[in-house]
Amino acid sequence: MDRLKQRIIGITEELAGIVVKYRRELHSHPELSGMEKETSAYVAAVLESNGIEVRRNVGGYGVVGLIEGKGEGGTVALRADMDALPLQDAKKSDYASKVHKVMHSCGHDVHTAVLLGTASVLSRTKEYLHGTVKLIFQPSEERPPGGAKSMIEEGVLEMPVPSAIVALHVFPDLPAGTIGCKPGMMTASSDRFSVVLYGRSGHGAKPHQTIDAVLVAAKVITTLQHIVSRRIDPIRPAVITIGTISGGTAENIVADRVELTGTVRSLDTSVREELPRLMEQVIKGITLAMGAEYEFSFARGNPSVVNDPKLTSLLMESGKEILGRDRVVEITEPTMGGEDFAFYAERVPACFFRLGTGNPEKGIIYPLHHRHFDIDEGAIPVGVKVLAWTTVRILNMSGRVER
Ligand code: NI
Repeated sequence: MDRLKQRIIGITEELAGIVVKYRRELHSHPELSGMEKETSAYVAAVLESNGIEVRRNVGGYGVVGLIEGKGEGGTVALRADMDALPLQDAKKSDYASKVHKVMHSCGHDVHTAVLLGTASVLSRTKEYLHGTVKLIFQPSEERPPGGAKSMIEEGVLEMPVPSAIVALHVFPDLPAGTIGCKPGMMTASSDRFSVVLYGRSGHGAKPHQTIDAVLVAAKVITTLQHIVSRRIDPIRPAVITIGTISGGTAENIVADRVELTGTVRSLDTSVREELPRLMEQVIKGITLAMGAEYEFSFARGNPSVVNDPKLTSLLMESGKEILGRDRVVEITEPTMGGEDFAFYAERVPACFFRLGTGNPEKGIIYPLHHRHFDIDEGAIPVGVKVLAWTTVRILNMSGRVER
């Protein structure tokens, strides 16, 4: 095993320059969610040039590659997302986005390049592998309902069924050269809602002849905030954010319609289940008391990403073995952000880890979704080593990861 580890380190170092080139190519040609035509063609071409069998157009522009090891064994899936965001790149580097108002500001170019690098390393070591590696290149992570769902619907987790799935996300708050992980909850569930409040319009000077939808909305908004502060157990985090409000036509006309939209985040399944019921109770009670009417719609988005404890400790051990003990950070808190990797994690033991990409000394300090976002590319071989070595460890040593 030690020789195989050295071999993986050696091949990764040798390929590091090429993998950085993949990243820069992807970074300068970003494509929005659901439009990853060129990106997926590029991914498929790189995989095929490594002699890897490829399936195209899985759940949209998804690409699936299979590496068969020489020995018998289970299947490990590795997933990268490929889409970019609608944002103007403000960097001055020669690999800055060439596409107007489209940018890889969430690092999905890095995820794709790292997985392509991992595929090259594993295909060069396949005579030592016991089992199969399934490479999942997913479109449309940023746009609900997300590409994970459509790839799963088109059978990405079948034939062969993976016993574990691993993915990473770039993380500028951790220094390049490190990774971070924790068992259990990694991200929040994220759901959306809209409320339409109906009153009765009339003259602003004769309120008794009207039902004021603006006043109803004011009460609904403040009372919805009582749910998190007074009805949910304070040790279980939840967020209700009303992001938009619109209604009314003139200063002297009582509005008969106000619409609110917002997002709801939580970490706990029972809280997630309860929130829409509590929200509707508030909306129903207030509109009834004020003689108004309402429509409430609530759309489920991504569930929380929950890391399998056994797989997570195996990944963190593998990280320590291949990077050094001080390069693996045990993180304590999840983020309230959402991630559609959660849909795989609901079906297969999963581990989602953070790849440190920050480097304040080089001025690499900007957060995700920022116009100046960039990474320290020294993080790229780190991601490759961890993915490749963890895959080998799962396939060759522990066999199946039981939930
Ligand atoms: Ni992202």
